[in-house]
Amino acid sequence: MLSERPEAGPTTALMRKAYARWAPVYDIVYDKLTEPAARAAVDAATASGPRILEAGVGTGLSLGYYPSGSFVCGVDLSEDMLKRARAKVRRRRLSHVRGLQVMDVCRLGYADESFDAVVAQFLITLVPDPEAALSEFLRVVRPGGAIVLANHFGQTDGPVARVEEIVAPICTKIGWSSAFKSTRIEAWARRNGVEFVGVAPTFPGGFFKILRMRKPA
Ligand SMILES: C[S@@+](CC[C@H](N)C(=O)[O-])C[C@H]1O[C@@H](n2cnc3c(N)ncnc32)[C@H](O)[C@@H]1O
Repeated sequence: MLSERPEAGPTTALMRKAYARWAPVYDIVYDKLTEPAARAAVDAATASGPRILEAGVGTGLSLGYYPSGSFVCGVDLSEDMLKRARAKVRRRRLSHVRGLQVMDVCRLGYADESFDAVVAQFLITLVPDPEAALSEFLRVVRPGGAIVLANHFGQTDGPVARVEEIVAPICTKIGWSSAFKSTRIEAWARRNGVEFVGVAPTFPGGFFKILRMRKPA
C-alpha cells in the first residue's frame, strides 16, 4: 500500500524544527485542551468504517480513542513527534495502530481509495498548500468515505470575528490562526464535487470545530 514519494523544501524544514521543539511539551499543553475535539473527530471518522488515516498524527494524542477493530495509519512530517506516538502505541498496546510513518500530507504514499476516512486534527491551517493536502485526502479515501477536520477556524462575521481580529497577533504566536476560515474548505469541496456535511462547534466554547465532508459514492 505504501510507496516512496519525494518531499522537501524550506517550509518542511521549518515545520520539523518547530515541532522538534514542541515535541517534549506537546502533550502537557494540548492533551486535555484538545481531547473533546479529538474524540468527536475519531467518532465521526470511524462512523465511515474501520480503515483510518490520521494525517499529521503528531504525538498520537488521539490514537487511544479509536475502537478496537479499527486499523489506523498515522503520518507526520516530524520524526520527533512520531517517536512519542510510537512510544504511546507500545506503552498502551494500541494494536489497532498499523503504522506511523514520516510523510508529507501533500504527497501521501498510499494507493487511491485505501481508507474509509481521513482525519486531520489541528493540521490543515499549518499546511502551506491546504488544498493540495485536501486533494490527497480525497484521493486516498474510498467513494462514500469521510474527510474529518478538527481545528480552530476563524469566524467569517459577527462580534466573535471582530474579537478574533483583535487577539489575532497573540493567537498566531501560539499557533491558532483565525485568518483561516472554514469557508475556504467549503469552497474547495464545492470545486471538487465533495459533499460538505457541516461544521460543528466543540470544546472549549465552540473555539474548536469539527468539519465533515463526504466523497461522493
Ligand atoms: C498541532 S500538531 C497536531 C498533532 C495531532 N494531530 C494532535 O491533534 O495532537 C500539528 C502536526 O502536524 C504536523 N504537520 C505539519 N505539516 C505537515 C505536513 N505537511 N505533513 C505531515 N504532517 C505535518 C506537525 O509535524 C505536527 O505534528
